[in-house]
Amino acid sequence: MPIVLGIETSCDECSASVVSLDSQTLNAQVLSVSTFSQTDLHRPYGGVVPEVASRNHLETLQTQIENALTKSAKTWTQIDAIAVTNRPGLVGALLVGVTAAKALAYAFKKPLVAVHHLEGHAASIFLSRLNQSDDSATLPFVYPQLIAVVSGGHTNLYVAPHPPTQWPMDFLKRQLVARSRDDAAGEAFDKTAKILGFPYPGGIWIDQMARKFSKTSTNPPSFRFPRALSQSGELDYSFSGLKTAVQLEVDSLRKKGEFDARLPELCAAIQEAIVDALLMKMKRACERFSCRSLALVGGVAANSHLRERLTNEWKSFGLSREPIFPPLEFCSDNAAMIAAAGAFRLMQGEGLTPNEDRFLTLNAIANPEV
Ligand code: KG4
Ligand code: ZN
Repeated sequence: MPIVLGIETSCDECSASVVSLDSQTLNAQVLSVSTFSQTDLHRPYGGVVPEVASRNHLETLQTQIENALTKSAKTWTQIDAIAVTNRPGLVGALLVGVTAAKALAYAFKKPLVAVHHLEGHAASIFLSRLNQSDDSATLPFVYPQLIAVVSGGHTNLYVAPHPPTQWPMDFLKRQLVARSRDDAAGEAFDKTAKILGFPYPGGIWIDQMARKFSKTSTNPPSFRFPRALSQSGELDYSFSGLKTAVQLEVDSLRKKGEFDARLPELCAAIQEAIVDALLMKMKRACERFSCRSLALVGGVAANSHLRERLTNEWKSFGLSREPIFPPLEFCSDNAAMIAAAGAFRLMQGEGLTPNEDRFLTLNAIANPEV
């Protein structure tokens, strides 16, 4: 039952969490999580400003760690290891978390586990809140599993033949079967939302507006936006063309004075295009690699339409169980998923101690390929 303190500072969420992993069931109980979201700080710029992010992590991380520890009711002696995101992400932002984690591991004599951010997202399906029974966390996990990491930075499909307790270093890199060639799905939501005039990050606004449309209309939206790379056999994604198509439609609606009235319908059409593209390739990958289960993780996994369609359509993917989603609050970046991924690695003996060279040379790495 390792108890792990996780630290996440790869982008604009400054988060610390204490998680207790049941090594038999793989249920990762979140004892506490404390997150400061920098969204309001970056909003005026329409996206994340790396220097603003790292400076703010420096100011707020210590408070998050103290909060997480206090809320968990654990003391340092009860913490078995410290897990930290060290790759990929904004290098200055990552460095704040890595340096803090190293200092704490050194001072409290705890093993240190370096976690790949996307492995953290993949581990988020094992998270459950303390005293909350979460069906998805207790159901047996069947493999091979398609893991769809759909976030603001990535749209990656992986085929995992094993649970994460058996994943060797950088396992996901070798299991990658599809990715976006340009914008990530979350980026497509955010960039098109910006064209529509929504504040950053715009994914949730499009989700809410599209819901408004579906509540008031029985017909599908009359706009149709491109689903790129849809030719048979193609597994990769491309979302960059969506921006131009949306911009042209917005210009035309503004000219006709219809923009405001048709905004919910526009949002529904954008969402449908992104969700259609996501599901098309997920289905294809499930069929090609004979996947038996599917895990949808990352910020875009919070999208209500994507969840709903997947919940209705999973049987046509050839899966033997319903899709697995993390609890909503753990879709976007958080330290609980990093602690869980760290606990899986710790179970494989991957904790670094301060007298090892690998501890001293452990660094923040920006490159997503590493
Ligand atoms: O995983 P995440 O927090 O950060 C990255 O690692 O990138 O994902 C953030 C992304 C943003 O693009 C945001 O707009 C999107 O997730 N997102 C959503 C929704 N909630 C967050 N996209 C669509 N619908 C949502 N409900
Ligand atoms: Zn993320």
